[in-house]
Amino acid sequence: MSERRLPTAILGASGYIGQHFARLLADHPDFEEPLLGAGPRSEGTTLGDLWQLAEPPPASLLDRRCARLTPAALERRGVRAVFSALPSGTAGPLEAALVRRGISVFSNASDHRMDADVPLLVPEVNAAHLALAERRRPGRGVLVTNPNCSAAGLVVAVAPILRLVRPRAIHVTTYQALSGAGYPGVPSLAIADNVVPFIPEEEEKLARETQRILGRLRARRIAPLRVPLLPHCARVATRDGHLEAVTIEAQREPTAAELSAAWRAFDPLAGDRLPTSPHPPVELRREPDRPQPLRDRWAGNPARARGMAVTVGRVRWSPPYLRFFVLSHNAVRGGAGGSVLNAELARHRGYLPAGGR
Ligand SMILES: NC(=O)c1ccc[n+]([C@@H]2O[C@H](COP(=O)([O-])OP(=O)(O)OC[C@H]3O[C@@H](n4cnc5c(N)ncnc54)[C@H](OP(=O)(O)O)[C@@H]3O)[C@@H](O)[C@H]2O)c1
Repeated sequence: MSERRLPTAILGASGYIGQHFARLLADHPDFEEPLLGAGPRSEGTTLGDLWQLAEPPPASLLDRRCARLTPAALERRGVRAVFSALPSGTAGPLEAALVRRGISVFSNASDHRMDADVPLLVPEVNAAHLALAERRRPGRGVLVTNPNCSAAGLVVAVAPILRLVRPRAIHVTTYQALSGAGYPGVPSLAIADNVVPFIPEEEEKLARETQRILGRLRARRIAPLRVPLLPHCARVATRDGHLEAVTIEAQREPTAAELSAAWRAFDPLAGDRLPTSPHPPVELRREPDRPQPLRDRWAGNPARARGMAVTVGRVRWSPPYLRFFVLSHNAVRGGAGGSVLNAELARHRGYLPAGGR
């Protein structure tokens, strides 16, 4: 993009999603390198000292210190777009205060996901829902959320085949990685040698957010997809990458060729040239033992979109049920990468200011 880069900040920069934000925003063509906000635990510490991801930290941000960043301080420093990786509860009022000051927010937190005037966005699936942001009053920033990490992968896999199968119900069982719980996350003694078949509020979020994202925008409101979603969510001892077993009760029988063609042809952002958008967004595997978290979580091309593609495999038809597995990187497609792609789309479609400082 030829316009000047937009001044940005990350809130929750010391956390798991925050560190992925720092990685993705270093050297970004649309956004300036971010100010780093954190809570009392990490205030004053450099990103280099905090770094815990397996991926290398961005050299340009290593010595930058985390600070307590208030809405007033962000406004004073000319920040125009904030990437929020705050815990739910803390995020809600702070994000609303930023928007009132004219600062746009791209949030991972759940507080505003179901608000009537807030897009819950996965650009390949429901870019049209961005128009909800037009309901906001002039002078305010836009607030755009991305979904729960297990919904993010599911909707990208299901959207291309919705018309082919016309679902009567969607059943999904998740095998969710430890990093989905952030830091400090699940106690090691609770998860080593174990699977925990409960993640608080996860099944409710997965169901309602999937229905909203796959819903239609009508008269500036979302009519959710009226198909029952029946999730089982479990935490397993993988580090990154949520695996999901999907069973769709179909009203129409698809052929194998139709399914492959629909997944392979799906690339609705092909013409948009968004830096973090993967092409293709769905990678279809034929091997009998894929997708796997260890081998497929970094799917996605070009290099900036690593971890943004979702991998579909083990596709089976047992009438009237279509069954397959889907895998996506919870902290990239389901977290920071999803927010960065949302911000790129918002900027590309004119919802963010054009210039820098
Ligand atoms: N992990 C995932 O895969 C994933 C995926 C999608 C969405 N999410 C959502 O993304 C958000 C962040 O998740 P996470 O996994 O990165 O959590 P995390 O690792 O626990 O990080 C939380 C961050 O918020 C900061 N913070 C906490 N309280 C604060 C306060 N009162 N004021 C300012 N900063 C504060 C923390 O700073 P300190 O270091 O100072 O405590 C830390 O930087 C959550 O809403 C989560 O539900 C997570």
